[in-house]
Amino acid sequence: MKKITAVILAVILALFTAVTAFAAPLPQDTGARAIPNVMVADEFRAADTAAYTQAQGEKIITLDLVSDTHIGASNASSYVRPCIERINAEKDQTDGVIVAGDLTQSGYEDEFSDAYAILRGYTGENMVTVNGNHDYGRWTQSGKMRPVAIKYRNEFMGITTQKDYYSTDINGYKVVVMGSEGNRPNSADISDEQLDFVRAEVAEGARGGKPVFVVCHWPMRNTHCERISWPIIPGGALDSATTRKLQNILSQYDNIFYISGHLHAGLNGRLTRRLFGGCCVEQRNGITCINVPSLGKGNHLGVRAKGTGMRLTVYGDKAVVEGRNYYTGEWLDNYVYEVSLKGASPVSAAPELPDAVEPESPALPGEEKTAA
Ligand SMILES: [Fe+2]
Repeated sequence: MKKITAVILAVILALFTAVTAFAAPLPQDTGARAIPNVMVADEFRAADTAAYTQAQGEKIITLDLVSDTHIGASNASSYVRPCIERINAEKDQTDGVIVAGDLTQSGYEDEFSDAYAILRGYTGENMVTVNGNHDYGRWTQSGKMRPVAIKYRNEFMGITTQKDYYSTDINGYKVVVMGSEGNRPNSADISDEQLDFVRAEVAEGARGGKPVFVVCHWPMRNTHCERISWPIIPGGALDSATTRKLQNILSQYDNIFYISGHLHAGLNGRLTRRLFGGCCVEQRNGITCINVPSLGKGNHLGVRAKGTGMRLTVYGDKAVVEGRNYYTGEWLDNYVYEVSLKGASPVSAAPELPDAVEPESPALPGEEKTAA
């Protein structure tokens, strides 16, 4: 019996190693960018690839995307600190940074203090932080660390709301940050009030075709092969009802980006799209969904290395997501994704709101209007 068990375990281990080894060919840094092919993510056309071509439209915004830094977990800070230093050193090439949640391992005060000390190493103007499930406390502590997480978030972002969600902007482009209002250790609870907030903020931000960035630690249900990436404990994604409501809101507009973390699924695509029907960059119902790998704790599919993140560049006609190891500085040219956009507009081209018109005061009784 023991022999059979050992054989089964060996086979499972061999299969896992083979799959992940095939899925994670870390390219050598040759010092020159040579993007052979891009993965086309338009409405999730599985396994489509195309030659890389220069965008035709105007460059609108460039963001570095990182997630799941997990400061407090073993060795996380020794990976995350150099990554933030690299992002800072290149800040002139970008417009901002999004950190998509699980900043800390357990939400303790000393972890938040360390995490934000590292993040403050970025001296650019536009870093946006998001709280994840680990930031509110783990397992039996879940929810107890919320006040600490919100306090540190607010100090860093310069906001005062006590809600789990808020909005900000990067160079005039709206960034809507969602957050769980419940205390479950893995899953997110999103109220209708929060969805109303998202609806109003996106409506305002998307005016004139501008791109809008909705950031939530949890991906939407049935995106990014989340049921495979997070199969054991329910909570890898927003629940189906919330996903439906959110997609109904976001799909009303062109050029909406939904950016998540949580899955620790690495940079993936060629293999996971074929095997599991999912990928870390997908377009669903017109929404560009991007699931960002873990920077500080490692990943379990595709490119698994700590220090992995993405650079997102939005042009008028398409968005390009480039996989990157921020720790080593390598551009992962086998992991470049493209999504077509419908005429995304820069702020400068978006129509201005009409000036408010003061209503004419009614004439008081007895007052006579005289002709000019
Ligand atoms: Fe995480």
